[in-house]
Amino acid sequence: MKRTTLAVSAAALAMLVWAPAAVLADTLYERLGGAPALAAVVDAFVDNTTSDEVIAPFFATTDMVAYKATLADFLCVATGGPSTYHGRSMVDAHTRMNITKEQFAHTVGLLIKAMQTLNVPQAQQDEVVALLDPLEGDIVGR
Ligand code: HEM
Repeated sequence: MKRTTLAVSAAALAMLVWAPAAVLADTLYERLGGAPALAAVVDAFVDNTTSDEVIAPFFATTDMVAYKATLADFLCVATGGPSTYHGRSMVDAHTRMNITKEQFAHTVGLLIKAMQTLNVPQAQQDEVVALLDPLEGDIVGR
């Protein structure tokens, strides 16, 4: 093998070894603190929703244990984490609920409150909200 080919191969190998670690470390999921941090956010968010007089009625018949696990998977995938999401699409999950824009904003507010309680840095809170805001069209008015 020529010296240049060897040098290129060594560089390619180095990228293969280092690139995945660099990419993983850079995901919002990792920066939030991974699975335990997301589980804490989900717990705090669900506490907020079930004690909120506007939002709690929506969850009157929901299996909250299953919902927490599904929501955690959803947020894991959305933030670039390693889970697989097996739940329904956002349209299917929220159809026939007639959720209003105000209720959507209020729910996002309850998630922000959960992240504030857990001292999630403002920049990462903003990143999470930026991921959820585009879902409004799938969730509202269904
Ligand atoms: C902020 C963005 C939202 C996200 C990312 C989100 C995500 C999810 C996910 C992942 C599920 C589970 C789906 C499944 O089990 O297949 C779900 C279910 C549910 N969501 Fe949302 N949701 C959002 C907003 C809302 C809002 C605004 C309301 C009501 C005001 C709401 C009410 C519900 C209810 C009641 C269920 C459970 C349905 C059941 O009992 O099976 N969600 N949501």
